[in-house]
Formats: sequence, structure tokens, C-alpha cells
Amino acid sequence: MCGIIGYIGNQQALPILLQGLRDLEYRGYDSAGIAVMDNGKLQRVRAVGKIDNLARKIKNDDYPGTLGISHTRWATHGGVTEENAHPHFAMNGKLALVHNGIIENYRELKEKLKGVKFNSETDSEVLAHFIGSYYTGDLVAAVRAALSLVCGTYGLLAVHTDHPDEMVAARLGSPLVLGIGENEYYAASDVTPMLAYTKRVTFLDDGEIAEIKRDSVRISNLHDQAIKKSVQEISWNKQQAEKQGFEHFTLKEIFDQPVVFEDAIRGRIDMPAGTAKLGGLDLSEDQMRQISRIVIVACGTAFNAGMVGKYAFERLAGIPTEVDVSSEFSYRDPIIDDHTLVFAISQSGETADTLMALREAKRKGAVVRGIVNSVGSTIAREVGAGTYIHAGPELAVASTKAFTNMVAILLLYAIQFGRLHNTSLATGQRLLKALLEIPQKINQVLKQVEQIKIKAQKYSKYKNFFYLGRGVNYPVALEGSLKLKELSYIHSEAYPGGEMKHGPGALISKDFAVLGIVTKNQLYDKMKSNIAEAVTRGARVIIVATEGDKVASEIADDVIFVPKTMELLEPLLNTIPLQLFAYYAAVELGTDVDRPRNLAKSVTVE
Ligand code: M6R
Repeated sequence: MCGIIGYIGNQQALPILLQGLRDLEYRGYDSAGIAVMDNGKLQRVRAVGKIDNLARKIKNDDYPGTLGISHTRWATHGGVTEENAHPHFAMNGKLALVHNGIIENYRELKEKLKGVKFNSETDSEVLAHFIGSYYTGDLVAAVRAALSLVCGTYGLLAVHTDHPDEMVAARLGSPLVLGIGENEYYAASDVTPMLAYTKRVTFLDDGEIAEIKRDSVRISNLHDQAIKKSVQEISWNKQQAEKQGFEHFTLKEIFDQPVVFEDAIRGRIDMPAGTAKLGGLDLSEDQMRQISRIVIVACGTAFNAGMVGKYAFERLAGIPTEVDVSSEFSYRDPIIDDHTLVFAISQSGETADTLMALREAKRKGAVVRGIVNSVGSTIAREVGAGTYIHAGPELAVASTKAFTNMVAILLLYAIQFGRLHNTSLATGQRLLKALLEIPQKINQVLKQVEQIKIKAQKYSKYKNFFYLGRGVNYPVALEGSLKLKELSYIHSEAYPGGEMKHGPGALISKDFAVLGIVTKNQLYDKMKSNIAEAVTRGARVIIVATEGDKVASEIADDVIFVPKTMELLEPLLNTIPLQLFAYYAAVELGTDVDRPRNLAKSVTVE
């Protein structure tokens, strides 16, 4: 949701900003703009729609200058128009601002700006003028003074023509990271647009302001007290954030899974002790034994991964576990005590709903830990401890490889807790050995890509789907169904197989497609019966079944086979064909696969 990239250094800013905006496209946006400073003048270009529209407006040698700010906008206040796109100007074009977040008291601030002519409907333009109203020759002082009266959230960059050697950044609630080069700095919403230039970054925290020069940066708070920040090395590289010959990021990220799964479990297995070693938990064995309840808070795909965690924690460790949609958790008076362990799961680490939930859990005294992909993200930093899932940059809006790696980490945690409770050494070791076989088994599923594609093309004509699964495959059904919805826009719902006869079954007719997960586990016979009911009512049925299972394949119209693994690990394999199925259905229907309509990758508002 909205993206910012700014540059100050000795290179031409425009190409860096334009490429940076392309790198930020994955966050979701509807318009974009750039402002570059040269010879005491700010030049601006903005366009509605894709970055290509913006690029078309720029001719060779246009917009010279080595200081610039730019923005991709996801409309909140005001429609999708060029006037509403950032950067916004104030002080007759001397001050430019890009802003992510929402200025809640912008009407009140606007009232104070008597006589100012506004050119847009945005809260951000009000903020630009409000900063301008405090300007008396010191840009950072003006930003500080204005922000101390602002209610809301912001990640912002401001520049002023009186200060050709300065860019000001500030953050409250919307992420901002500084990239450090040789006599140059980058400032962006996340690390993606700076991966090609530097790995050295500093994450701004809430309430911090950075005064960035070409060769130095001073970070302070709203009271102008200097803050010493650490510099971190990012392990992600530019290549990981490229399509690498795949048609879409979605497909590339599905195919990343065997490799990034290994990254997730590497160094985290203690085979002789039949357990996992996840130092990020930061609890002694005694403290772990004191945990009497686990609560998982997450949204979307991360929630579905959390559901797999519930089955694993309860089965292996006997610890009651509940999974809550983050936005519900924060507002339902959850019962929490200091024996409750709360896991906040998030790919982006910036999801506002999950951030609110973890803050609520902390306030109530829970032990809170993160399971996060984006290194240095807000959730990762706020929880203070936790585990990175090491999925690498995930740029397609629909989450794929993050799901698999979230499940991997949850399983490792469940084994670790399990070994302190009910799980025997032998079971621990069997689970770990089975985990080590997963990458090769994912590869076996990926090899069937052509067959899955043909099936997806065939089924893409259906307007309605039920995804059915039981036990640990119920979350797989939820995740498969979510993928189909967001990628292809086909209506789809997921249910536990046993629920059909309690209502939803009324919908089934010959116009319905049912996708069932019928792998060989303790609920296999029950799941077969649920599928048989759908067949009897005329639905077109496709199932995911265990390799070599002739019986299951006879009850369905179509089958996708997956290799056998231990039941708790099945989601790691069974989800893969569903990702491919949704992807190829979407390609067949011609949707914008990597950037589905109405969705953003990083949902930074509640
Ligand atoms: O970054 P997060 O994991 O916190 O994001 C949570 C959801 O917004 C995300 O999983 C969303 O549901 C994806 N579009 C699913 O593919």
C-alpha cells in the first residue's frame, strides 16, 4: 500500500527513482509521481495508472538532478487523479512531500491554513502546506514542528529548494528504511528498491526524523534529541527480487519453494535430540514448560498457516492453541495471561491489524513472538524476539512461498514444545527426517506443472468452487480457496469436509466444482465419503490424492497426485498443486496475476 523511494547522492536521481517505483509496484498502487531538484528548482511529473504511464511522460535528459523523491499512491483521501498523486508541492513549488499513511486531523490542520490554495483532495497535500507554514529557513525544524501537531500515521520524505543538500524523512506508523551507500542515501518504504545499490540499512522507528545529507545522516526524535541507530546488513539480493525468466512473480515464487524451504529449516534441527532449535524463542526450557496456552494472530495466508500450527501444537505438545484473525483479536477482549504465548505471523511484518493484535497481547502480559519474513520490519522489531522464515523477497501480492515457510517454522516450534511434553524422541526424529525430505517432494509436485495447468484451464470455466479438507488439510483448503479467489476472481469457499451436510451442500449442483484434499491419513475414509456426497449431487470433482491411491482416484473426475509424507507435514505438499491450479486458472482467465485488483501486498492500514 503506497510506496516511497527517495535518493540523495552524486548519481542522477531520476533513473534510480523510476526503477525504485517499479520495484515497489508489488505493494499495490493506482498512480505515481517523482520530483527531482536541480539548480534550485523542483521539477515534478505524475501520472495515473501504471509506472509505464509515468515513464512515457519523461523524455531523455528530462528531470536532471541528484536529489529526488517519488511515490506510488494507493488512494485513500480523494480519487485516483493526477492532482491527488504525490509528490505534493507547497510554498509555490519550493517544498515537495511524499507521504504514506493517513493524517487523521487534516481537516483541523486545513482550517489553520487560511488563504492557502489546495490543488488536490488529499490529506497529504494539507501536510505539505502545514510543514510549509512552519518553515523559517530550517526544513527539519519545520517538519518537526508540524509533526508534533499531527494525529495519524506517516512515513514521509520532504525536500526544499533552499536545501539542495538535504532530504528529510520521518516515520510514525508507516515503514521507512534508509539505505546507506558511498556518499549517497536512499530512503524507501522497504528494502526492495535499494537492493541493487546497497545492503547496509537503518530502519527508522516511530517518532524518528532523519536529516539526510549526501555524506551523513542525523536521526532525532520529535524533541530534537539525537538517536544513535544501528546499521544492519540485509541478506536478500537483487536477483531474488527478479522474475528470473518466469512469466510472473507468482509462478517464480511457487517454484522458489524447494530452495527457500531449505533456508527455513537449515541449522534449526537437532536430530540426535529429536527436536528443533529455534533460538528466536528466547525462553528457557523451564519457561517453555510454563506456557499453558498458545494464541496465533495473523491475517489471510498467514492465518491459514497458523491453523496448521494449531493442529501441530495440540497434537505434539498438548498445548491448547487458538488462531485468531488479527483484526478480531484486538477488539474482542481476548483472555490472555503471562502463561500465554502469542505468535504474530506476517510475511511483510507491516500488517497493521497484526501489529495492533500483538500490541494488545503485550499490553495484557502475554509472551509475544514473531514469525516474520521481512527482516527489520515493524512486527519483527516490536516483538523483540522470534523467528525469520527466510522465504526471501515475496513480491507477488498472493502469498505462496511464505505460507510454506511459515508452516515449516510452526512445525519446528511444535516439535520443540512437543519434545518438552508428549512427543517421544522417535517421533521427533521421524518428523525431522520427514521435514528434510520435503524439498525433494515439493520438486516432485512441481514437475507435474503441465498436467496441473491443463486441469486448471479445464476447471477455470466454473464460476463457483468449494474447497474441502479435514484435519490438517482444512487449512490447506482455506489456503487453496484464498489463492483461487485472489488470483482468478472465481468465487470459492472452503469448508471442513464434514460441514457440507450442515448447510453449504445445498449449493452443490452440476454447475459447481469441488476440489477435495483426500490424502491418505486418519481422516481419509471420512473425506472420501464427503467427496462421494458431492459427486452424488452432480458436482464436478477434482481431488489431491496420495501417489498410487487408485481407490481415491476412482471417485473423482480428476486427480492430482502428491507424494506421501507424515500427516502433520501434508500441508507442505498439498498446498503446492493448489497454488499452481489457482495460478493457471488466473492466467487462463487473463487476470492481473501478480497484482490482483483491490489488493495490496503490504496492508499498513487497519
Ligand atoms: O504480510 P502479511 O503476511 O501479514 O499479510 C497478511 C495478508 O494480508 C496476506 O496473507 C494476504 O492474505 C495475501 N494476499 C494472501 O495471498
